[in-house]
Amino acid sequence: MSIEAASSQTSAADSDPQQVTLRDGRRVTLRAIRPDDAEALRQAFERLSGEARITRFMAPLKQLPGDMLERAVNPPPGEEVALVAIPPGEMGGDGIVAGARYIADARYDTAEFAVTVADEWRGLGLATALLKELIRRGHEQGLRFIEGFVLARNRPMLECARRLGFEVFTDAEDPGTVVVRLRLRPD
Ligand SMILES: CC(C)(COP(=O)(O)OP(=O)(O)OC[C@H]1O[C@@H](n2cnc3c(N)ncnc32)[C@H](O)[C@@H]1OP(=O)(O)O)[C@@H](O)C(=O)NCCC(=O)NCCS
Repeated sequence: MSIEAASSQTSAADSDPQQVTLRDGRRVTLRAIRPDDAEALRQAFERLSGEARITRFMAPLKQLPGDMLERAVNPPPGEEVALVAIPPGEMGGDGIVAGARYIADARYDTAEFAVTVADEWRGLGLATALLKELIRRGHEQGLRFIEGFVLARNRPMLECARRLGFEVFTDAEDPGTVVVRLRLRPD
């Protein structure tokens, strides 16, 4: 199924929220991002450490620019899938504790993913759960590959990707960055 063909049938809002129990017993809801998540997303970004911002955005981003925030909570259907993880019953509290998205490039049937987990929620399988859901959506959308650009020193991300079956490609011209790529269909 082509990305265009899928777009009318599949949008981030189509799937039901999922309850996930993490390794330490805490529970979170994984669901599609919504426009009214803007403030919670801004706050989640503010809480990220400098190192997390660099590993996620590959730049020491101090603030999430307004247009980026606006786009982040309004992913174009059929092109982007964006998920958030929220502890149950949270109205303020921890709010958004993790997020993952992919942006599909219809020309190549490939999507680029990124994932971020708040410091105090790491090592519990949350990135793995979010990526599994992105992979499921990618299959559903008929994508050929899902890939991510990862700093070569980002061991947690590389470990997480390897365990999910991603191949790791290095670039001799840019030894600081690697590409992790998972093939979703054979042709
Ligand atoms: C990379 C990141 C998303 C991983 O999130 P996470 O929820 O902790 O990942 P998971 O718990 O699903 O861990 C998956 C695997 O990664 C490995 N891992 C997790 N934390 C690790 C750490 N601190 N050191 C080494 N390996 C680690 C483990 O092998 C783990 O597998 P296992 O615990 O099942 O044996 C998180 O560290 C993060 O948000 N980093 C900042 C943003 C970023 O780098 N994003 C990636 C850019 S695409």
